[in-house]
Amino acid sequence: MKIFSDKNLLKSFLEANKQKNKTIGFVPTMGALHHGHLFLIEQAKKKNDIVVVSIFVNPTQFNSKEDLENYPKTLESDVEMLKNIHCDVLFVPSVEEIYHENIVSEKFDFDGLEHQMEGKFREGHFDGVGTIVKTLFEIVAPNNAYFGEKDFQQLQIVKKLVKKYTFAISIKGCAIFREKDGLAMSSRNARLNIEQRKAAPFIYKVLKKAKKMFLTENHDFVTNWVENQFENHPLLKLEYFTIAEEKTLETIKIKEFNKKYRAFIAVFAGNIRLIDNLQLRNS
Ligand code: PAF
Repeated sequence: MKIFSDKNLLKSFLEANKQKNKTIGFVPTMGALHHGHLFLIEQAKKKNDIVVVSIFVNPTQFNSKEDLENYPKTLESDVEMLKNIHCDVLFVPSVEEIYHENIVSEKFDFDGLEHQMEGKFREGHFDGVGTIVKTLFEIVAPNNAYFGEKDFQQLQIVKKLVKKYTFAISIKGCAIFREKDGLAMSSRNARLNIEQRKAAPFIYKVLKKAKKMFLTENHDFVTNWVENQFENHPLLKLEYFTIAEEKTLETIKIKEFNKKYRAFIAVFAGNIRLIDNLQLRNS
């Protein structure tokens, strides 16, 4: 596996390969790799000649200094994992390499997608995500880029970014990878203590029940039911639960049978924030 920290060297390497008509698949990550990431990389390997993974804990997408400082960093084991699955290229830039001396995000208009859910609770988060994804796309210029559906809002925003900036990149969304007990895989899971880890699968259990209820009940009823489940939970604190339309991410007002809906949830276990989502059926 080739490892680059210099963006110009990476660009030249990839340019040379594009000249030879090689296709590039790209999996951007913040490291602390888990099976969900490996699944994205496997999908990328199937469809592209060269797979590039980036590991960069992007400071501008964190709205809390504490969250940034506590984000798990496991570069050595990440490199081992990537070598084991025969990843072709790893890009690990420094903060200076990406931002120079000015660590701020660009401002984006994602046609309102950025104001829903995560955007409401994590101010500036999607400006940070937009900034780093756009920068990485400019450096790597892949044919295909792979994102997990766990961050479904991010996935929709990246699709919008590609459209607005006319990147010739096909965005591939990949289904959520779950632990055996249903907990959505996330780098943040590594920070849960034993009790929190035991409690966390409750989030997916509630989502599954909500999905069942949505077949026959209206969205307000389902939302109230979910809120009640967390009301007196000793370890998990609900930040939000919402049923939203997949395309606009706007909270549902009336159930329309030609629209696709998803349930979205954010929960705190101590100071660790976990998100998850599940596609719903109207009938
Ligand atoms: O999903 C993530 O890990 C990050 O938001 C991403 C896309 C790598 C940008 O920093």
